Amino acid sequence: GKGEFDHFMLKEIHEQPTALTQALEGRIDPEHGRIALADFEPGTFTDIESVQLIACGTSYHAALYGSLVLNQAGVHATALLANEYSVSSPPIDDDTLVIAVTQSGETADTLNALRQANAEGATTVTVTNVVGSTAAREADEALFIRAGPEIGVAATKTFSSQAVMLTLLGQRIAADLRGEPPADLETLLAELAAMPDAIAGLLEDSDADAIADRYANSQSYFFIGRGLGFSVALEGALKFKEITYEHAEGFASGELKHGPLALVTPETPVFAVFTGEEDEKTLKNAEEAQTRGAPVIAVCPAGHRAVDVADDHLEIPEMEADLAGLLANVQLQLVSYYAAELLGRPIDKPRNLAKSVTVE
Ligand code: M6R
Repeated sequence: GKGEFDHFMLKEIHEQPTALTQALEGRIDPEHGRIALADFEPGTFTDIESVQLIACGTSYHAALYGSLVLNQAGVHATALLANEYSVSSPPIDDDTLVIAVTQSGETADTLNALRQANAEGATTVTVTNVVGSTAAREADEALFIRAGPEIGVAATKTFSSQAVMLTLLGQRIAADLRGEPPADLETLLAELAAMPDAIAGLLEDSDADAIADRYANSQSYFFIGRGLGFSVALEGALKFKEITYEHAEGFASGELKHGPLALVTPETPVFAVFTGEEDEKTLKNAEEAQTRGAPVIAVCPAGHRAVDVADDHLEIPEMEADLAGLLANVQLQLVSYYAAELLGRPIDKPRNLAKSVTVE
């Protein structure tokens, strides 16, 4: 049941510390700076040259996040929408690894793309939550995120767990390709181990309900970010529109001035995600929206320069490794939740949507 919570979504948002603890259990060894993925021992990916990540919806945003982790670690990687794959897949060679990211393991679009990849001779892995799912059976290997059942139609804890597992898998792949572990692996593993507590603290102190209240009844809601923060901006917007039924869009910060800025007015709050990836540029992009009267809500650590510039902010704990985006995402999940609650929406079962989309 929902326990003390009014909705499964809020319960599942609060389950993220536990979900991440379960995901990481036995899979990282921060003391020795080692990744310990049982089915993916060092050497598993030595023959891999490039990676394609295929997924839909929230899982696609996790895939995009994972593709950036891989790119930043020096591996050729692309995130692709599974429903576009049959018409636009890049060439597959026998040194291509295809990673199907799917919470349910039953999404028809993703299964179709996975089958195509299998048929074309790729090595395939699925990152999924459901043991015994079709994706887990049909991919060469499965990496389970162990998030526990997710009942709310809106994916929340599973996004965080997918992103974390893709980070680990990505570093494993990069290490195999380079023949040595990444230089800053120890910091990353220590920060990953600290994530459950960081999220628990954030959940306790969040002002997301007040922010949702302040900006309710706006015309549109925009979310911007750079790099890993871009995938989080896209996810923030998807969550917001899905459960509030309000218009929300996510943009790469630098894209605002290439068109979307025409939509910006005092009625369009802009949530700006700061992840330490050229934050100065993102701040400038946010200020351009502010000049047109849009309130800017910065999602960033305390003491960040954006706090002084923005109209409001949502605080995230300071992290050394590149995990700020995942913390920012939790704040945005809460904003969506509280906004939907104010609007009286059926949060766990938004209209027209199904938890698992088993048709093409
Ligand atoms: O089960 P999957 O991860 O394959 O589902 C893919 C999407 O349908 C799903 O992530 C959807 O976008 C979410 N329910 C949105 O919150």
